Amino acid sequence: MARFETQVGIVGAGPAGLMLSHLLHLKGIHSIVLEAKSRAYCEERVRAGVLEHTSVQMLREAGVGERLEREGLRHEGIELGLHGVRHRIPFVELTGKWVTVYGQQEVVKDLIAQRLADGGDVRFECGEVSLEGITTERPRILVNREGHIDEICCEYIAGCDGFHGICRGVFPEGALSIFERSYPFAWLGILAEAAPSREELVYMHHPRGFALYSMRSPRITRLYLQCAPDEDIAQWSDDRIWSELQTRLSCADGWGPTEGRVLQKGVTGMRSFVAEPLQFGRLFLAGDAAHIVPPTGAKGMNLAFADVHHLAEALGAFYGDGNGDKLESYSETCLRRIWKAQRFSWWMTSLLHRFENEPPFDRKRQLAELEYVMTSRAAATSLAENYVGLPLEA
Ligand code: APR
Ligand code: PHB
Repeated sequence: MARFETQVGIVGAGPAGLMLSHLLHLKGIHSIVLEAKSRAYCEERVRAGVLEHTSVQMLREAGVGERLEREGLRHEGIELGLHGVRHRIPFVELTGKWVTVYGQQEVVKDLIAQRLADGGDVRFECGEVSLEGITTERPRILVNREGHIDEICCEYIAGCDGFHGICRGVFPEGALSIFERSYPFAWLGILAEAAPSREELVYMHHPRGFALYSMRSPRITRLYLQCAPDEDIAQWSDDRIWSELQTRLSCADGWGPTEGRVLQKGVTGMRSFVAEPLQFGRLFLAGDAAHIVPPTGAKGMNLAFADVHHLAEALGAFYGDGNGDKLESYSETCLRRIWKAQRFSWWMTSLLHRFENEPPFDRKRQLAELEYVMTSRAAATSLAENYVGLPLEA
């Protein structure tokens, strides 16, 4: 058994774990990151792609925003579509802010490169992780790699291991309250080698189901179709996907998505989930380990960054001048933002999707709500304010 010492043991090298490790490094706090998958897997997994302006600012201030600034696409609005007509929500005009389209895996690549350049300790394909003594002053992470066990002695542990990670399960019976909602649909997503034919994202309401037109770069588009939660991707040839995308996205003005080679396809589930509180003893949860939002509001990665910002600030205050107040209030601080993002993600999802066997009243109400957002400056401002991201608490 090999023994290692660190101030903060971090489980998971997604956006949350990597950013936390980097922010701690900037404050002179040592961490070890333990990641089950390979570096290539983490860097290549295609996930979300919209960064709130606060996330961009955070990455820039932390010195990891250089490529993001060069390659990220500045989006000053989105378009909502109804009855084949698009209506723009002008973020900058309504809020003075914008969002940046930059793939999550690009953020992950930049963070890994920075951690390694700074001599950070990031252990990929680490083996099986378990936690011990989270209510003691010396919690430990045990890492079992084919029978060889490493013991990481920590002062604090951050569970940044995503929704399917092990850290949330370490909370004792009854310590967590779970708030959850599942949706009767999923998204079938593709990544296509096609130059975007629109400058901004198009969120389209359609009688056959929601469709989203998004992008990653000047050569790559990302598109989604609402589908069944148990949709069999094998039933979807590239031709069938494009045909359905054309049907749902084509507009009265003649616009439709440009087609190209399909580079990747998959089905993404939809759920809303919060586990409260985010702390037990010396274990703190951050990112998807504690909460999941449906992707319609583009909030997942941004919430993860907000959590680790607060956690790094709290650990910084504790190690800086021994003040544990922010650690004490970490969960409460994060949950205020998490619930607002939950509300917004649920609202965007409800606004735009087709609900099978929905009472006719609700269908009419949904259409009225969309028309309201498209015609009222007050309603559009509320959407814009949430989409670009609510301010971080001081
Ligand atoms: N041991 C070590 N690592 C683990 C374990 C484990 N038992 N379980 C999971 N992991 C790793 C995963 O392999 C993954 O790399 O933890 C990491 C968690 O990363 P993410 O799932 O990306 O979660 P997070 O960093 O919170 O980022 C949230 O991810 O799902 C998207 O939309 C979501 O954009 C949001 C972002
Ligand atoms: C994406 O580009 O993957 C994307 C964009 C906006 C969303 C969800 C996903 O709301």
